Amino acid sequence: MTERSLVAELEARVRARPLPRHVAIIMDGNGRWAEARDLPRVAGHREGAEAVRAVTRAARRVGIQALTLYAFSTENWARPEPEVGALMHLLAEFLESERGEMMRNGIRLNAIGDLDRLPPEVREKLDSVRAETRANPGMTLTLALSYGGRQELVQAARRAAAAKGDALEAEDLEAGLWTAGLPELDLLVRTSGERRISNFLLWQCAYAELVFADVLWPDFRDAELFAAIAEYQARERRFGMTGAQVTGGRE
Ligand code: FPP
Repeated sequence: MTERSLVAELEARVRARPLPRHVAIIMDGNGRWAEARDLPRVAGHREGAEAVRAVTRAARRVGIQALTLYAFSTENWARPEPEVGALMHLLAEFLESERGEMMRNGIRLNAIGDLDRLPPEVREKLDSVRAETRANPGMTLTLALSYGGRQELVQAARRAAAAKGDALEAEDLEAGLWTAGLPELDLLVRTSGERRISNFLLWQCAYAELVFADVLWPDFRDAELFAAIAEYQARERRFGMTGAQVTGGRE
């Protein structure tokens, strides 16, 4: 069997079972991918951007409603300035090159994080693509940029406390999260063999299934996405109940 038909078979298997509505990915391993090839780290980020294109396309094709990608963390600002600059450049390039495809495929672009910290040229492109794709009915692609989960929680808590004081409930806090309006997070994937959450979607991970893939992000493509979804589909999600409760006693 060729590699293409193996991927097609995996895709068909994934399509036949309930899909996660919302998938988030910690795209890790760009630097190691480049170092293993004696290339500058930025070459890993460039190939990582290709993986973003492929995975977005595949997720849209199978019918994922929301895909959220950790593209730049609050902590990433501390990287050497040339690397930060290269990442910002790649982002601006991506926004420009994918604008047409997002429109053709009905993808709505969204962004979460401390967006005011982004350089003006990235911020402007982001605003313009978000505005252009606002009404697209297909998948929502959310880029987490200058994002930190604790920071998101702190600002949500401040807002909820200002509105509700001591009476605030979980729903009030949730309403102030940057992800408000997106479906519940069902599946979180992290690449490169690391097994950490690294300040990503801390609240939203409460009942998400976590899948850790050993592959480095620049090598992640359709097959790896479908394999992660297949792993999710093989899990039993209990949300604190017993196995018998969720399977209707069929245990
Ligand atoms: C982690 O790899 C990856 C990042 C910090 C940036 C992710 C950026 C991209 C995939 C490319 C641009 C994004 C878009 C949306 C076009 P790392 O550098 O921490 O890898 P390492 O752990 O091997 O050093």
